[in-house]
Amino acid sequence: MENVKKQVIVFSDSPEFNIVRNLYECAVKQLVLKFEVLNSEFNVLYARNPIHHIESRVKSAESIAAKLNKKGKPISIPSARENVNDIAGVRVVCHYIDDVYRVAEMLERQKDVEIIKRQDYIKNPNYNGYRSLHLDIRLPVYLSDKTEYVGAEIQIRTIAMDFWASLEHDIRYKADKSKLPVGINEEMYACADKIAEIDRQMQDMYKRIKEAEEQNGK
Ligand code: GTP
Ligand code: MG
Repeated sequence: MENVKKQVIVFSDSPEFNIVRNLYECAVKQLVLKFEVLNSEFNVLYARNPIHHIESRVKSAESIAAKLNKKGKPISIPSARENVNDIAGVRVVCHYIDDVYRVAEMLERQKDVEIIKRQDYIKNPNYNGYRSLHLDIRLPVYLSDKTEYVGAEIQIRTIAMDFWASLEHDIRYKADKSKLPVGINEEMYACADKIAEIDRQMQDMYKRIKEAEEQNGK
């Protein structure tokens, strides 16, 4: 453990660490701006926002080292760049399920964004019911004398999916995993299913109201 702490200090105190950290911060800024552009264009064209809010972060040196350690990989900058896909993370929280796919498609169409991996946990929720659309991407960051291709993980989900994921994360992190009461995962799954049902119902009501308004306007 002491050894890992020392390695983290060596890793995060180097000048290269600041250079690389800046790259990930720039990637996050570019991505957030891309989503803000999509949201404001949508607002101008359709008088509504598909995105409720955006969260972003660059993983701390300690969290990067912990992930490398867990994966049995060396704690170094090249190793972090190669083995940790979520150093730059952007979470896009949308109003409705359709908005999630719409926003994802709009990003996927952008020529400078390379999609590395797409995981659809909405169509295929994980073992405890987690839902979100994950895109592992790479995008260019233009520097003074070169272009760096920087990886990022984007999570796109609805407000309802975010509600479940935030509370599940809170419960899981507070709990001592070895003493988790029997059946918790199943109960979490059942809660996620109920929330998903409500998500569909809210979207359906929204669509029906919009259709009615359009018919009245004709
Ligand atoms: P890495 O991306 O390398 O971590 O592995 P992976 O691709 O198997 O991970 P995945 O993309 O499935 O999950 C990455 C992130 O999604 C996590 O750091 C969480 O933010 C989120 N996530 C995944 N599963 C869960 C879950 O069950 N509950 C919650 N609250 N969040 C989850
Ligand atoms: Mg992933």
